[in-house]
Amino acid sequence: MTTWNKVGKVSDFQIGSAKAIDLNGEPICLVRNKQGFYAVSDECSHAAVSLSEGTVTDEGIECFLHGSEFNLQTGEPKTPPATSAIEVFAVQVEGDGDDASVSVGI
Ligand code: FES
Repeated sequence: MTTWNKVGKVSDFQIGSAKAIDLNGEPICLVRNKQGFYAVSDECSHAAVSLSEGTVTDEGIECFLHGSEFNLQTGEPKTPPATSAIEVFAVQVEGDGDDASVSVGI
């Protein structure tokens, strides 16, 4: 069963940015890009560094350490050296505009 956790308002997250969020001990990387919001594990599947310190690309997030880019919808690595997917979590935006609340389901 999914538990929704409010993580902030839309205006708290800039487009093109990633933020580390701790949800009851679960490290989450919350990304906002031009398409919307995405939540994935904040741990690269290659060497367990924080993905939220990486670079948000048009369709994913690129690990800062060795450059693997992960698909934000599937968690699959698009480029090496990572070979395993990272976990993906659902994101819900409720309300309108900058004051809408953003929640992550775990
Ligand atoms: S630690 Fe992320 S690609 Fe190596």
